[in-house]
Order: sequence, then structure tokens, then C-alpha cells
Amino acid sequence: MTQTLAVIGGQWGDEGKGKIVDCLSSAVNAVVRFQGGHNAGHTLVTDDRSIVLHLIPAGILHRAVTAFIGNGVVLSPEALYDELQKLSEIVRDLKERVRISDDCTLLLPSHAALDVAREKAKGSRAIGTTSRGIGPAYEDKIARRALKVHHLFDHELLGEKVSELLDYHNFLLGQRFGEEAIAANLIHDSLCEASQWMLPLVTDVSRDVSSLVDNGSKVLFEGAQGVMLDIDHGTYPYVTSSNTGIGGISTGAGLPLAKINKTLAVVKAYTTRVGAGPFPTELHDSVGNRLAARGVEFGATTGRPRRCGWFDSVLVRRAHQLNHFDGLCVTKLDVLDELESIKICTNYQYDGRSVDNITSSAIRLQQCEPVYEEMPGWHDATYGITDYQKLPQNAKKYLMRISELTGVPVAMISTGPNRPHVIYRELLSDW
Ligand code: IMP
Repeated sequence: MTQTLAVIGGQWGDEGKGKIVDCLSSAVNAVVRFQGGHNAGHTLVTDDRSIVLHLIPAGILHRAVTAFIGNGVVLSPEALYDELQKLSEIVRDLKERVRISDDCTLLLPSHAALDVAREKAKGSRAIGTTSRGIGPAYEDKIARRALKVHHLFDHELLGEKVSELLDYHNFLLGQRFGEEAIAANLIHDSLCEASQWMLPLVTDVSRDVSSLVDNGSKVLFEGAQGVMLDIDHGTYPYVTSSNTGIGGISTGAGLPLAKINKTLAVVKAYTTRVGAGPFPTELHDSVGNRLAARGVEFGATTGRPRRCGWFDSVLVRRAHQLNHFDGLCVTKLDVLDELESIKICTNYQYDGRSVDNITSSAIRLQQCEPVYEEMPGWHDATYGITDYQKLPQNAKKYLMRISELTGVPVAMISTGPNRPHVIYRELLSDW
């Protein structure tokens, strides 16, 4: 019986994790975020509306779910406040069901200012971040000067810490980037205000989640971004600043990996990427435009157009090697519906030889030429199909080939944006 499940992005983020987590949360007791911040954008389409969540785990729409934000998340009190306000219009008892770790790193407006200033200074070498301040917040955490949620509850100490941190941020903003300083007292005031509404939500997430797991509750771990954006294993330096893979759960939620029963990777039936960095299978032609248009490929957080390309099995194989996926959740299959033929990247040409696994460092990946296999399209609508047997033969062949090439069985298929547009395979029958 599967009691704990991790859902990880298997590509460069935006794979559709929000919908998958929502679908898999109907019978769970808790959903846990363990890394990233409000750079994430998880779009959920319910019967009558579409909701984008940035910090609060996607399982929150189910009444029995407690939504935990683990210590590995960099938390902007302002962003969380806005999200709670918006969500409270449709979710009752929200304040009883959202719980925040007292060890979360606080993300401040000065982090966002530094992110923007740094990107501007980089010019053509910019990473294309979401401008939310994610990198600078994690920098402060690693340098041991960050503010943590537990600092909010001693206003005097908080004042000292804010002043010290803002001295440093303002030095960088002014001296390094020629930007305006940010007033420490305004940040201190807004954090004191945040402490009022946040206090009842704060808990020891590691302890609470561990005891839920030990008591037999069902717990789902919701990844943000994707494995190829991992700070250690992604296409560095074009990555985010956290561990987006399975390892992020032990550090960012405080749960030993031995307690995770199953890991699923969410992958699109093709590939997309937002921001700069290598993308071997990227398309710059009418097919790429068609995928972008049919897939409505715009970032859920920043609205930026996503770059589109063919499915890259080398990258997903690499992600599998790093995370050991038990199953793939293939999303947006319907976006490929009308294509004449479909390509899958099977391996790369690198340095004059064929390679089928490669460290994903940006420099190496930039020199890789994808090698493709071409499959016929299915010229039929898969949109909204919920029964695997009803998929067109060629769509099934495509899914089987993805599974063969990546070495991971297909556990779930999403055939449209709404909750019911999904096919569950046997692998998930015990969830
Ligand atoms: P940051 O996380 O804002 O520092 O951005 C670093 C890189 O990660 C940029 O290429 C972003 O576009 C990308 N990124 C961050 N969050 C997401 C996400 O939720 N989906 C897709 N890409 C993301």
C-alpha cells in the first residue's frame, strides 16, 4: 500500500504538477511543499474557475488536506498573505489547514530588488529568473544571515536582524548596482504585522509530518520547478536555487527518504522551458509555434512565453537516474493531437560520438545535437479521454516508446486541463 508519494517535475518545470497533485490529493491527509518559493505557479482548473497557486500546496482544494510549507521553502510573507486572501474566497477553514515551518527562510522585498538588479547587470548572460528574489534569499540562508519564520516572534531581535541584513542588501544595491536603498524600518514594520496573522499557522513541520506518516496517514510531497532546474543537478547556472528533486524532501521537509514509498515524475508529452539556458530539442519553427499556441505555453508566474520543443528522453532518463521514478505522469498529450508526425529525442551527438546520458551542465548540453526518432501522429482527438483503451493506437505507441526510452512506466496521463481529464493506470491503484 502506498502511503507516501512524491510528485516531482521531470523536466524544466511547468510540467503540470499542480493539476496532478490536485488529482492525487482527493484521499490524502496532507500535502507538503519542501523547496522553492513563489517562483512556482501551479495552475488548477476546477469546474468553474482557474486558480494559480504559488506557495500553498495544490492539495488545499480538498477539504481533508492539511497543506504544509516545509523549512526548505523561501517564504515571502507578502506573497503568502495575498494568496491566502485570494484563496479564502473559495476555500473555507483555510487558516485551520495551512501550516508553515518555523524554520522557513523569509524572502524580503530587498531579495527581489537584488534579483532584478543582478539580472540587469548580467545583460545577455542573464538567467531569466522570475524576479521574485529566490536566488538572493537562498544565498542568505546558506551564508547564515537569513531571517527565519521563528525570528518573527521576538520583535526586538527581529529589528536587529533586519537592520543587519538590510545594511548588507543596501550596500549591494547601492554600491554594486547603483540602485535605491530599501528602508529597514518599513521591512521591520511589515514583518511585525505579518507575525500577527502568521503565528497561528506556524508549527514544526518535520515533527507534524513525521507523526502523520508514522500514524498511517497518506501524505503527498509536492515538488516545484523540475529536476533540470535543480541547483546541483540541473543545467547550471541556468537553474533555480533549490534542490528540486527527491533529495529536497529530506532537507526541506525533514522527512527521511526511506519513508517515501513512491516517486512520480510529471513530464509533458513534449518539452518546455522558461528563461535562458540550453534546450537541445527546442523548436524554432511552425511546429514549435503550434505547440506553444495549443498548449497555451505562458509561464503561470510571470506570463512569459515558454520555449517549446520535442520530448527529450536523454534528460528524463537523467532525471530518473537521479531520482528513481516509479512512474511517469504524462501531461498535455492532447496538445500533440493534430500533428502529422512526432519526434522523440533518443540520444545526443556530443563531441563526435553518440551519448545517451550526460551531466546536464549548461556548457556540455549546449554542445549536444539531439538525435531523433520519428513516429506517426494519431490525427484524432485525445482531449478529455479517461480510459486508456480509448486512446488512438499511435498515441498509445508514443506513450509506450517514452516509457521504453526513459525506463519508467506510465502511471497517469493528463488529456486536458480539467480535473476529470485524466487516465489512471494500474500503478496507482493502491493510492
Ligand atoms: P528563479 O527560480 O526565479 O531564480 O529562476 C531561475 C530559473 O528557474 C529561470 O529560468 C526561471 O524561469 C526558472 N523557474 C523558476 N521557477 C519556475 C517554475 O515554477 N516553472 C518553470 N521555470 C521556473
